[in-house]
Amino acid sequence: MPVVVVASSKGGAGKSTTAVLLGTELAHKGVPVTMLDCDPNRSLSIWADLGTLPENVRALNDVSESSIVKTIKQYDVDGAVVIVDLEGVASRMVSRAISQADLVLIPMRATTLDAKIGAQSLKLIAEEEEAINRKIAHAVVFTMTRAIRSKQQTGIETSLREAGIDIIEPPLMERAAFSALFEFGGNLHSMEKQGNMAAAIENAEAFAMAVYKRLTEALQ
Ligand SMILES: Nc1ncnc2c1ncn2[C@@H]1O[C@H](COP(=O)(O)OP(=O)(O)OP(=O)(O)O)[C@@H](O)[C@H]1O
Ligand SMILES: [Mg+2]
Repeated sequence: MPVVVVASSKGGAGKSTTAVLLGTELAHKGVPVTMLDCDPNRSLSIWADLGTLPENVRALNDVSESSIVKTIKQYDVDGAVVIVDLEGVASRMVSRAISQADLVLIPMRATTLDAKIGAQSLKLIAEEEEAINRKIAHAVVFTMTRAIRSKQQTGIETSLREAGIDIIEPPLMERAAFSALFEFGGNLHSMEKQGNMAAAIENAEAFAMAVYKRLTEALQ
């Protein structure tokens, strides 16, 4: 079943938040999810250690450069989704994870600087495709967006689309509830109210379903 790798060499692009939101929302819909923390800074594990993990979620840490491929293969079983959270660098670990992916998500803030650095991640995927001689499905996720789209965001979206890059709709909006996951643990459904909770849940669910649709397509 699908392996989703969340990668961007830009620090703070929203990788770990994207991984946790995707994992917890898929699990909430009944999909078994294994999350692999492959970042030495252990953001995902910090979230996982905050309390009881939601139903259908397993979180593993201490995945190293030498164990990453074996670990992904071990948990890539029928009916389950593996989600890999990576460090914000370009490294051999990142390349190895990408080589195992059915879908790579590239979180990106909608600013010119982030888009420029995000483009390096797209290049890394292209290099990996060349190395392993297969296409690797990938898509950009805009993160921390505002309700009113900035001109910058529209411009970046247009140039990505013109380059044939897939963009997940909806983007992940800037929401207090999303950052609070790393304060309280669990998922959006178990958390006490943070800001406009209904809007946060609706956004995260629609995002997770858009990714799930790509996964079912990627596996056909
Ligand atoms: N959609 C969002 N709404 C509100 N806050 C967010 C959102 N996405 C990320 N953040 C906050 O922005 C910061 C960076 O996010 P995150 O840790 O997910 O990025 P990252 O790409 O994993 O960073 P690193 O490269 O350090 O691993 C965190 O404080 C997180 O809580
Ligand atoms: Mg992170």
